[in-house]
Amino acid sequence: MRPAALALLCLAAAALCVESATAAGATRPWLDPTLSPDARAALALKAMSPQEKLSLVFGYFGSPKPDASYRPPPAARMGSAGYVPGIVRLGIAPQWETDAGLGVATQGASSDAYRERTALPSGLATAATWNPQLAERGGAMIAAEARASGFNVLLGPGVDLVREPRGGRSFEYAGEDPLLAGTIAGAAIRGIQSQHVVAVIKHFALNDQESGRTLLSADIDRGEARESDLLAFELAIEQGDPGAVMCAYNRINGIYACESRWLLEQVLKRDWGFAGYVMSDWGAVHGTATAALAGLDQESAAVFDHEPYFGSPLEEAIASGSVPQQRLDGMAKRILRTMFAVGLAEHPIGDTPLPIDSAADERVAEADEAQGIVLLKNAGEVLPLAHTTKRLLIVGGHADRGVISGGGSSTVYPAGGNAVPDAGPKGWPGPEVYLPSPPLAALMAQSPQTRIRYLSGSDIGEALRQARWADRVIVFATQWAAESQDVSLTLSGNQNALIAAMAAANPHTVVVLETGGPVLMPWLSQVAAVLETWYQGSGGGEAIADVLFGSVDPSGRLPVTFPESLQQLPHVSLPGTGQPPGQPFRVEYRAGAAVGYRWYDRNGLKPLFPFGYGLSYTRFDYGSLQAHLENRRLVVSFEVKNVGTRAGAAVPQVYVGPKAGGWEAPRRLAGWSKVSLVPGTSARLSLAVDPRLLATFDEAGESWRIAPGTYEVSLGESAADVRLSVEIRLPGWRHAAAWTAGTDGDVRGLPLPSYCKVIASGRDPSHP
Ligand code: BGC
Repeated sequence: MRPAALALLCLAAAALCVESATAAGATRPWLDPTLSPDARAALALKAMSPQEKLSLVFGYFGSPKPDASYRPPPAARMGSAGYVPGIVRLGIAPQWETDAGLGVATQGASSDAYRERTALPSGLATAATWNPQLAERGGAMIAAEARASGFNVLLGPGVDLVREPRGGRSFEYAGEDPLLAGTIAGAAIRGIQSQHVVAVIKHFALNDQESGRTLLSADIDRGEARESDLLAFELAIEQGDPGAVMCAYNRINGIYACESRWLLEQVLKRDWGFAGYVMSDWGAVHGTATAALAGLDQESAAVFDHEPYFGSPLEEAIASGSVPQQRLDGMAKRILRTMFAVGLAEHPIGDTPLPIDSAADERVAEADEAQGIVLLKNAGEVLPLAHTTKRLLIVGGHADRGVISGGGSSTVYPAGGNAVPDAGPKGWPGPEVYLPSPPLAALMAQSPQTRIRYLSGSDIGEALRQARWADRVIVFATQWAAESQDVSLTLSGNQNALIAAMAAANPHTVVVLETGGPVLMPWLSQVAAVLETWYQGSGGGEAIADVLFGSVDPSGRLPVTFPESLQQLPHVSLPGTGQPPGQPFRVEYRAGAAVGYRWYDRNGLKPLFPFGYGLSYTRFDYGSLQAHLENRRLVVSFEVKNVGTRAGAAVPQVYVGPKAGGWEAPRRLAGWSKVSLVPGTSARLSLAVDPRLLATFDEAGESWRIAPGTYEVSLGESAADVRLSVEIRLPGWRHAAAWTAGTDGDVRGLPLPSYCKVIASGRDPSHP
């Protein structure tokens, strides 16, 4: 930026900005943007007093506590999650923190003035797009809104694997597979940080259920953790380069995540070379020296911890030598480095909120929403609905008012307010927010000539009568999930009974699910069609109507397995059930690295719907599958052709497994592509497989090991639907634990699916 432009920006924005690049370079050399973030952080650190260093590692809650025992510093953004003061004398900006991965949230219980912002669909919905570009665009959109709202740190995305389908925060995450989840989260991080807002990947690690999240110990073999949950973080961090990592509430093998030297120092900082800082989750710190020496760099919202561990106790620990001064320097330096790397000094945040183009932002959310909708069943091609449909009955789910969203710290308050203010709890983790984008109105707008009636579904008798009147019935069913509690896989209230009744009365009954994650479907064989729409964000009603009427092909694919019954899960009842309140407990991660579809495969279980599954309104054929080694990389190529009659997007998936076994499961997802094709056209695609997906992690040898032998490479439409297979012999390889894409002549930092080259195609140009 030219000095004049920078000076202008300074006038317009926060008082902490540098006067001009040249002047700053002379008097405060760390503000010189031509220096590297490391050099700038070192220079700033040198100029700091001990108190200033301490101030950087201690966070305040940004909102009043509900019990009125705490008031945040006046400079905090009211209703926000966190605040760390800046250092005015040095031109170091405050850190204004807000949740989360789905949009700019307000701390519900403590604010009387909600910020009304655009909501993306749930994390699981974005993962269901299998489209990292949409995740990146969504990240950029919410970060731009965060910046306009006065924030420079966004507390997301979350990438804990969905090991437990009842997990109350599964909706915030990116599914059960490390490659898919890591790629989607990595893309979201790139989007967020493109707006000069720090992304905070969370919750590191293995925070895979909400019940007892602060009490439980996730017990897992370290090597298996590296091949599963940690691999998702590793890929996301490598591909997105987030400024910060948030350590989780839970313990891992008996040690708190925020006190685990193995996790924070060895895996994250040493092996993965993470140069940013580690912040704690709100209330996840349990000691001063234990946390500081294990690798925690910043205590968040200290009022949630039993003591302000990184406040005066840290100062005393440094004075007594139980925490070396060098360690405090390292903590402060990491925070400064992130601030410079992400551009917080050059792109200061203003004091007054900036206008937001909500209509444009809603279009970003809608593209994400529409591509994440998964068509699970479509008997007799009842969908897409014909515009000639005469009588349509819509039942349930408050479809006349809006679409449901998840609860807890990620809750985004929409413009126009909560469409169903009387639903669900008023207090934490509520309220249960419905975004005012009613599917009913969107369906009416799509097909004005169709007579459409709506019923709430509370009176099944009345609904039965109307179902006989209608040519088609669409039942909306919702499940509310929220942070701090887990969910039942059984739809609540009379919803299952309502669906079964509608299906009995009308064979053309379509179910639209708005759920946080998988649910059981006792009525599946009776209904004609099922759409899983997850939690749609702003504009979700339109996205649902687009898919129902077929103006958008359903191109979402499941990022999680849907179980047939609870008996198929690694834990039939939720771990911790029946524990006395407040009592620590251990959860044996029985599946190890066999998360999700790998567990089903390993145990020969047939789920209700497999990972990767989803129908389209058209059909695809696959051919010419080949596998070869190129520059020591397994490269897979194949052809996909639209053999149906409509334009649509295929999501061909490549799975790999050793013929001789020896993995946690027969096969793993090794790559995929998403390609839009008009009927009769085809594309030839090629993708390179990350070697870590072909390896097991040898904990003792601290390395990834690929066993020599024959591997089966399969191409399919889901983990359970393999269309073509070839075999290839791989030589044995060993890669250091620190291996990343970029070593061995590889291209560092590129998301894996972007290796996927379209070699020749007749793609649908109208489709993003
Ligand atoms: C959640 C975090 C969130 C933080 C701040 C915690 O309860 O676990 O995900 O970022 O609160 O709101």
